[in-house]
Amino acid sequence: MTTLLYLAAGVLFILGLRGLGSPRTARRGNLLAAIGMLLAIVVTVAAIIDEPEIVWGTIIAGSIVGGGIGAYLALRVQMTAMPQLVAAFNGFGGGASALVASAEVVATDGVFSTETSVTVALSIAIGVVTFSGSFVAYAKLQGLITGRPVGLPGGPWFNAVLAGIAVGVGIWAVSSGDPVAYWVLAGVTFLLGITAVIAIGGADMPVVISLLNSLSGVAAAMAGFVITNQALIIGGALVGAAGLILTIQMSQAMNRSIANVLFAGFGTEGGPAMDAGDKPVNRASPDDVAISLAYAQTVMVVPGYGLAVAQAQHAVRDLANALEARGITVEYAIHPVAGRMPGHMNVLLAEADVPYDLLLDLDHSNPKLPNTDVVLVVGANDVVNPSARDDASSPIYGMPILEVDTARTTVVVKRSLSPGFAGIDNPLFYKESTMMLFSDAKAGLEAVLAALEEL
Ligand code: TAP
Repeated sequence: MTTLLYLAAGVLFILGLRGLGSPRTARRGNLLAAIGMLLAIVVTVAAIIDEPEIVWGTIIAGSIVGGGIGAYLALRVQMTAMPQLVAAFNGFGGGASALVASAEVVATDGVFSTETSVTVALSIAIGVVTFSGSFVAYAKLQGLITGRPVGLPGGPWFNAVLAGIAVGVGIWAVSSGDPVAYWVLAGVTFLLGITAVIAIGGADMPVVISLLNSLSGVAAAMAGFVITNQALIIGGALVGAAGLILTIQMSQAMNRSIANVLFAGFGTEGGPAMDAGDKPVNRASPDDVAISLAYAQTVMVVPGYGLAVAQAQHAVRDLANALEARGITVEYAIHPVAGRMPGHMNVLLAEADVPYDLLLDLDHSNPKLPNTDVVLVVGANDVVNPSARDDASSPIYGMPILEVDTARTTVVVKRSLSPGFAGIDNPLFYKESTMMLFSDAKAGLEAVLAALEEL
């Protein structure tokens, strides 16, 4: 019965993941997965209810304190702080798996079959790396420590040597069964989690968090093997696979390898705002932009990281409403890595009640762009940089982009000519068909709306 109910929980996890594939079904998917987790917990408790050595006070206190903190954080978190919260949850997940395996070491004094000792060592090693790595990612994103990549003596070799030491200690633990070896393993991997993540730039943290999420799943699956718990094995394997797929997809959408994300110390948070100076750009006023929009039949909005910084999602929606009222068709082109986390733009636009079916992905928006009258680029930069298509020497060459330079007119709203995340110039800004509205995204769009209403 227990195994069957665990299987039912596993099916709910899978249906939940499936639901998360589209914004329309995401809430239901999340609910299904949560019901699956509740089922797994209830079945686990029911299975041990008759065991005399269980200390119920600890279990109940742990559930109340852990559940209370989780619910409080999830209810209070700002949308922009979501990556940090996920990092913290991953960290606790990895830590919990390592503790489950460590408890087995204490209970048996390290006397396991070879197979079990391998899974115990892996659960401790991967769980502890996930724990310390996730909290460094949390601290970077929360601004508690510097977001810049921190150089280590010997560069990536430092972590390679540390990983080699961890493998050696793991072999020692498995071959000797000495509990001390497991604790040394925990110490080395704790350090490895810190040094591996601290060497990566803050802006790459979403990719790192996704990878750590995958690792927390692997650690949980290993812990499931240690204590023979099917729900933990199924849930852990699903998290491991889903996290890895997301990591690969994010890296591909940036045209970077996972190794480049982990070892290259890439990325900036954009340079300081600088003046356009004498560069040959078409500076536009809010009135100029309002006039081109008013005469358009089709408008495509391309949001980017600057929209999130300026919190301009409601201003975009208000402007779109005014254009639609004039009979103009407005759609939104969403690049998969626009912003700084997966789904960043979708979440912001959903907050402003932009209907999901107006959001087009890369494959659906690019063919439409040559027939679009005005593309309104709001705080996006790298994801619309034509050098990714045209300049083989560019660091982002090969990254798929939204080809906004193919539209009749492109309006770019940003504060200056400063680069974005990749730290490189954007030839789009100097094209004859591009109008630059130098402004904070929210203030700029509000000024355009005011000008439009005057027409
Ligand atoms: P970016 O290329 O980073 O450009 C953002 C632009 O927003 C900047 O050039 C900045 O120019 C402008 N900006 C900042 N504050 C603004 C404000 N208040 N009002 C108006 N504009 C403002 O953004 P993107 O095009 O969205 O590309 C995302 C980048 O992040 C890609 O390189 C991607 O690879 C990387 N990345 C993405 C993810 C995920 S999962 N989305 C994860 C890691 C890395 P000014 O300073 O001139 O205003």
